[in-house]
Amino acid sequence: MKVYIKTYGCQMNERDSNALGAALLQRGYELTDNEKEADILLFNTCSVREQAELKAIGKVGILKKLKKVRPHILIGMLGCMAQSKGNTLLEKLPHLDFVIGTDQLQKLPDIIEMELAKREQLSFTETNTDISQSMAQHLETNSVSDFIAIMRGCDMFCSYCIVPYVRGREKSREIAEIADEAKKLADKGIKEIMLLGQNVSAFGLEQNSKTRPSESPFADLLREINSIKGIERVRFISPHPFFFNDKLINTIAECEKVCNNIHLPLQSGSNRILKLMNRRYDSAMYMEIVKKLKKIVPDITFSTDVIVAFPGETDEDFNCTRNIMNEVGFDNAYIFKYSPREGTPAAKYQDQIPQHIKEERNQILLADLKERTTEHNKLMEDRIFKILVEGPSQRNPERWCGRTTNNKVTVFDYNQSLKTGDIIEVHIDRSSSMTLFGSILNH
Ligand code: 5AD
Ligand code: SF4
Repeated sequence: MKVYIKTYGCQMNERDSNALGAALLQRGYELTDNEKEADILLFNTCSVREQAELKAIGKVGILKKLKKVRPHILIGMLGCMAQSKGNTLLEKLPHLDFVIGTDQLQKLPDIIEMELAKREQLSFTETNTDISQSMAQHLETNSVSDFIAIMRGCDMFCSYCIVPYVRGREKSREIAEIADEAKKLADKGIKEIMLLGQNVSAFGLEQNSKTRPSESPFADLLREINSIKGIERVRFISPHPFFFNDKLINTIAECEKVCNNIHLPLQSGSNRILKLMNRRYDSAMYMEIVKKLKKIVPDITFSTDVIVAFPGETDEDFNCTRNIMNEVGFDNAYIFKYSPREGTPAAKYQDQIPQHIKEERNQILLADLKERTTEHNKLMEDRIFKILVEGPSQRNPERWCGRTTNNKVTVFDYNQSLKTGDIIEVHIDRSSSMTLFGSILNH
């Protein structure tokens, strides 16, 4: 029986879909990329912005026709939106067979068997604090990198964000269990590990305290992964600035495999808005982390998440965001237009901002970002960097590509001795706002 899985949203959803795919293969199902030939169609959904929800609902909506022609197919919605809208989805989409929320995903293979035996609409959205049976399986891959989920859920309750409601309380895994997963991936040839969580810098901390902790179990985890043979690069998303303390900063500097590219969500540069967002830091605290890291980690680059047009954001607030973004000089930024999420405090705030201002602010930040990255990439010209080879470049498969440790995509000529997973030295000849172009040295 063939299963098609479509994933919306963040890397955590990608990781979940990957683990579910591996579990289904083990049970004898086949995976397919072609939805037309699938017997079971699964949609792993996202709730973080309205657009993502509408896309998945629209997609499953049009499958009604398919089910008329092929009544034997099963359709399931999984993940965040299944968690928050479970029964409403089943009512709204009568051809939908089941919904499985974020804490019940590991039951998917059993639920499919149940559905095949007895077809009726089923909903599994109970919450669960046990993470021990977390989904640690991985599909085989040709890629050089893979993800590991180190924690799930979030306790921060930023006022705009639905994640704490749909993914529940923060639950961290044991360091030994994560290291074991990383070793298994290294044995399969994975060179780069991306550690995943909604709030990785709070990994292993008891309960989020009001004061900033001086300890950092996450730093201990980084050291552990740094020591695994075969793993060459370690990255992580996403840390929260509140838990980004000196211990973590120094650990990043000391662990040679921990990459010099940090994704540090800013969300806003205005202290007034940061307070309304319940972010627990101000722009000075954010800049202090950036400055410390810049000082001790060579060639470090930063990326971020920013929300424009949060309710009540004035031109002055927006300019604070613009200024701090230019001051940090991000090399990448995911800029989101504020999207009200039902059930979150900010959705009820006065002064929701009109769409055209959201667009305008978004465009301004994108233009600034392009200027900054073009400048930074220019500074990398005529220097030599270590590149982890990923394979043929998407644009021109005759050339190959890889990344620097600070996460710049670099394109170079293919030569026959190149293999995916090699680490090579490349001289950067020229650059654009998105890409470095170079020549391989002695390989
Ligand atoms: N509207 C817009 N962006 C949001 N994000 C989270 N919630 C919202 C929302 N309601 C963004 C944040 C977060 C990223 C994953 O998505 O910037 O870091
Ligand atoms: Fe959402 Fe804030 Fe948690 Fe990130 S830290 S997942 S933005 S609540």
